[in-house]
Amino acid sequence: MGNRGMEELIPLVNKLQDAFSSIGQSCHLDLPQIAVVGGQSAGKSSVLENFVGRDFLPRGSGIVTRRPLILQLIFSKTGTPCSGVVACGFEWPRYRVIRSSTAVTGECQKPVAPFGNQRGFSSLLLSQRTLSPPMAEKVSAVPVPAGLRTIGVITKLDLMDEGTDARDVLENKLLPLRRGYIGVVNRSQKDIDGKKDIRAALAAERKFFLSHPAYRHMADRMGTPHLQKVLNQQLTNHIRETLPSLRSKLQSQLLSLEKEVEEYKNFRPDDPTRKTKALLQMVQQFGVDFEKRIEGSGDQVDT
Ligand code: GDP
Ligand code: NA
Ligand code: MG
Repeated sequence: MGNRGMEELIPLVNKLQDAFSSIGQSCHLDLPQIAVVGGQSAGKSSVLENFVGRDFLPRGSGIVTRRPLILQLIFSKTGTPCSGVVACGFEWPRYRVIRSSTAVTGECQKPVAPFGNQRGFSSLLLSQRTLSPPMAEKVSAVPVPAGLRTIGVITKLDLMDEGTDARDVLENKLLPLRRGYIGVVNRSQKDIDGKKDIRAALAAERKFFLSHPAYRHMADRMGTPHLQKVLNQQLTNHIRETLPSLRSKLQSQLLSLEKEVEEYKNFRPDDPTRKTKALLQMVQQFGVDFEKRIEGSGDQVDT
């Protein structure tokens, strides 16, 4: 298939995510997403940045990223990355917009209440208006069931002791994962301090794989661009699989909302229930969009 499925399905889920985050968690659905999980300073933020192609996250030794972060993949009309970063942050329970990438970096560094305490849970949701994958980065570990969709990402390959390599792991022989492994090389702390830009980092990454004797033969399956391709495809497949149940959940929410609106029918237009009515309209529109897109969502993607 071409990009068709991806271009139609991912924006649909993004729209839902925006809508639900603007009205609060009461209508929360388990939307398809990709979670980044890894040890402290493993390079999670670095991977996300290379992915998005912009410097916008705090990176470094120790716990630097302190807030959950959600990125969305948004396609520009031409299919190329939109220019300019417009990052929107939502902080429960109040809605707040963060405009600059610098502000985003600052927000991510603020401490949050310990995870697991739902009431004290403070999350930051970012909509990154660039060609980036919808990825959730969470400080706490996210269980990924049975490793069915887990992709191993091996960072810091450039730091391995000379004479050693990760070929066995990357060839999926040592600790086999159903979806295998992709090696990446991110910027080192020195690169970051020296302001090495992402374009240069990606070029260096490509050169690393092409010139390394242990990785040269699989260079096309390594690096950030390949990771982007694989994750986009996998997310699209996952969305496609979950759409039917998502649709039925939305429909039942729609029904209960309709009931609620019925009860408030005679209220003045400026009363607090108008929010509910606006939501109702939004959900109804989703219903229509869903029908259309499920029918026209293109061919199955190879997995
Ligand atoms: P996080 O805690 O998992 O988000 O890790 P960070 O992205 O903040 O990275 C931690 C440190 O490791 C930073 O100083 C990065 O520059 C460095 N780092 C991350 N990935 C690589 C890599 O592939 N190679 C090298 N040399 N350094 C890396
Ligand atoms: Na870190
Ligand atoms: Mg981080």
